[in-house]
Amino acid sequence: MSSSEHTAQRVAVITGASSGIGEATARALAASGHRVALLARRADRIEKLASVLGNGAIAITADVTDRDSLVAAAARVQSELGGADILVNNAGVMLLGPFTPEYREDHRRMVETNLLGAMTATEVFLGQLREGGGDLVNISSVAGRTARAGNAAYAATKWGMNGWSEALRQELQPDIRVLVIEPGAVATELPTHITSAEVKAATEKFYEQFAITAADVAEVIAFAVGRPRRVALNEILIRPTAQAG
Ligand SMILES: NC(=O)c1ccc[n+]([C@@H]2O[C@H](COP(=O)([O-])OP(=O)(O)OC[C@H]3O[C@@H](n4cnc5c(N)ncnc54)[C@H](OP(=O)(O)O)[C@@H]3O)[C@@H](O)[C@H]2O)c1
Repeated sequence: MSSSEHTAQRVAVITGASSGIGEATARALAASGHRVALLARRADRIEKLASVLGNGAIAITADVTDRDSLVAAAARVQSELGGADILVNNAGVMLLGPFTPEYREDHRRMVETNLLGAMTATEVFLGQLREGGGDLVNISSVAGRTARAGNAAYAATKWGMNGWSEALRQELQPDIRVLVIEPGAVATELPTHITSAEVKAATEKFYEQFAITAADVAEVIAFAVGRPRRVALNEILIRPTAQAG
């Protein structure tokens, strides 16, 4: 079976599809023949993208911290697209800053979005993914393998995602392939949400120097999920060539 035959009828659900890596992944998967369900909170963005992509693409407003919205999304994916074959857990926030009480809401938001949000989306879509052989793609980070002063809570969410993914890889095989993607700096809106003005400025400067594009990452994801079922790419680290840490 060729790659295009393999992907022709597959349905991909992408969380955080309204910008950055999620949007680029939706574009790459649609271009390789997938029908896509775009999930995010900014309805205007995903509706516009769905209409550009066509081929059965649907936009579903959902917040990964709100399980009811994910359950409603799964019901729509089942009824309108016949169920999900691929779930890309991409929704995330990177609110870098010192680990002090002042930033406790940022810490909570990152755990609730990046880690618990991915876990909730996965358990909600698990039944659909099991039917016919699915792919679970978890967008982790270089920060899921390294840690440094100033990214403690963010790194905790991504290290958590990596450990959870490895357990799931073993638990769900051979029905579902589990793939962890670990990007370095990618030019997206991610650093713009940092609440500390000083950390935000320094991070944006770093990104301006080094970042690769969201499409660079999306291409790799589309390649990985297009492999024959006997092949599983389980972990892919993608850094800008000039990024050290
Ligand atoms: N850019 C990088 O350098 C980099 C590096 C390594 C890993 N990553 C990871 O890549 C993923 C995507 O980030 P990005 O760089 O593409 O940044 P981005 O452009 O800011 O995209 C983040 C996406 O997450 C969505 N999101 C945030 N909170 C959400 C919630 N509660 N419910 C549903 N969706 C939510 C946003 O959509 P709405 O606001 O519309 O809901 C947006 O579509 C994140 O998990 C991030 O940690 C990024």
